[in-house]
Amino acid sequence: MASNGSVNPSSMKIPEIKFTKLFINGQFVDAISGKTFETIDPRNGEAVAKVAEGDKEDVDLAVKAARQAFDHGPWPRMSGHARGRIMLKLAELVEQHAEELAALDTIDGGKLYSWGKTLDIPGAASNIRYYAGAADKIHGDTLKMSRDLQGYTLLEPVGVVGHIIPWNFPTNMFFMKVAPSLAVGCTMVVKPAEQTPLSALFYAHLSKLAGIPDGVINVITGFGPTAGAAIASHMDIDKLSFTGSTEVGRLVMQAAATSNLKQVSLELGGKSPVLIFDDADVDVAADLALRGIVYNKGEICVAGSRVFVQEGIHDAVVKKLAEKAKNWVVGDPFDPTVNQGPQVDKKQFDKILSYIEHGKREGANLLCGGNRHGEKGYFIQPTIFTEVEDHMLIAREEIFGPVMSLMKFKTIEEAIARANDTQYGLAAGIVTKNIDIANTVSRSIRAGVIWINCYFAFDLDCPYGGYKMSGFGRDLGMQALYKYTHVKAVVTPIYNSPWL
Ligand code: NAI
Ligand code: MG
Repeated sequence: MASNGSVNPSSMKIPEIKFTKLFINGQFVDAISGKTFETIDPRNGEAVAKVAEGDKEDVDLAVKAARQAFDHGPWPRMSGHARGRIMLKLAELVEQHAEELAALDTIDGGKLYSWGKTLDIPGAASNIRYYAGAADKIHGDTLKMSRDLQGYTLLEPVGVVGHIIPWNFPTNMFFMKVAPSLAVGCTMVVKPAEQTPLSALFYAHLSKLAGIPDGVINVITGFGPTAGAAIASHMDIDKLSFTGSTEVGRLVMQAAATSNLKQVSLELGGKSPVLIFDDADVDVAADLALRGIVYNKGEICVAGSRVFVQEGIHDAVVKKLAEKAKNWVVGDPFDPTVNQGPQVDKKQFDKILSYIEHGKREGANLLCGGNRHGEKGYFIQPTIFTEVEDHMLIAREEIFGPVMSLMKFKTIEEAIARANDTQYGLAAGIVTKNIDIANTVSRSIRAGVIWINCYFAFDLDCPYGGYKMSGFGRDLGMQALYKYTHVKAVVTPIYNSPWL
């Protein structure tokens, strides 16, 4: 692994923090309790800003505003075209502030600044535009029914939505949830993760500038067991859209079940397999596998954390991976030559290091990495374990860090069975030039997205979500619109006859 040296404090670029309060009904306000919490810069563990700590009473106010905006406000009632125009304005504003927003996600979450300003933030603007374009194309069906009836279906906004989002992609997660629900005419309360609240508050400000009416988007910063739990159990929220851990996914579903039976969609963890077959190009395969685990420091639910390599190519892939990992640069995420910044916080840092220790103890072979990087902040070396066995903890549990478990296989049938031997089902990668293998394996893996000869090939038009304990419901693509709509059937007799 390469290094750009120790993290130099003089290179730290802290943007001015303009928004630190809750955003309720179009206003920035303090939490009712007056409490705040610190958001931490993972490059050094130091506090960046004090942010309002919302709790149940604040969630109540936000839901009241969202309810009012839904039941009586203009947003659900205006044409899709009019909503789309306002959303286009929001996309424009997001793009105009790309550098400032990217810097906020870097100091909050340790994300690469250069990628933020060229990928994450412009990608979020494209996401808003995608759904702005869809806002006037949300159609139901015409029903030609039996007997003397005819009818149609209307897709209506589901109502007030609670969005609970994680910290690994603060900007993209925010708009992955907010944009489709805005397009269909919902109103909402968004709770960003406590690790990364800053960009969400900036988006609240931009939504007001764009002309989104007060009460449509409310942002409550705060912690999961308090503010998050209040959203999950709220009696006046119609739909809960959650992305995060499987453990908390279970909790929010329970809260929905014991409150008002609100609809729930869950996008949870993963332990996604990458299957490399004998005919693959070694260089291409090693590159794909490495990026599949170190991209965004492994903090991505679709990370390719289990790499299965066929025996004929196994040793060559391992050798190549070791070479490539050496050139992967860990360091200050503001430095454009760096490939990997710090993990989001101390909790994740400690968790990842403890999995690494487990791997060493369980007898896997440590090919490279295996330690923290530097002495300050939450940096971890890209770590590759080979000769991993399927039963080992590092092969079974989601680590959410730059830690690969590499395993050898003989036959296609074996690869499929072992790839599917997990509670998760989010994604899978296949590396082969053989179309028969690609087709067979992609049909056989139980996961929401299969990437053949690519990885992380996200697209706005490509639905995204899990099988099994990776959750249910789809983000992105036109599918996401259906998460936030009800189907209403309207029926009438064709002839002016009494009911049949
Ligand atoms: P988490 O599931 O606790 O956090 C995600 C969101 O849920 C945050 O906004 C948090 O405030 C909220 N939350 C927490 N407890 C809640 C509760 N009782 N009720 C309602 N909302 C609640 O995830 P955490 O602890 O930050 O990370 C732990 C592990 O979860 C990671 O190591 C990773 O394995 C997984 N994870 C998966 C993500 C994904 O993209 N699928 C994203 C983040 C974490
Ligand atoms: Mg943080």
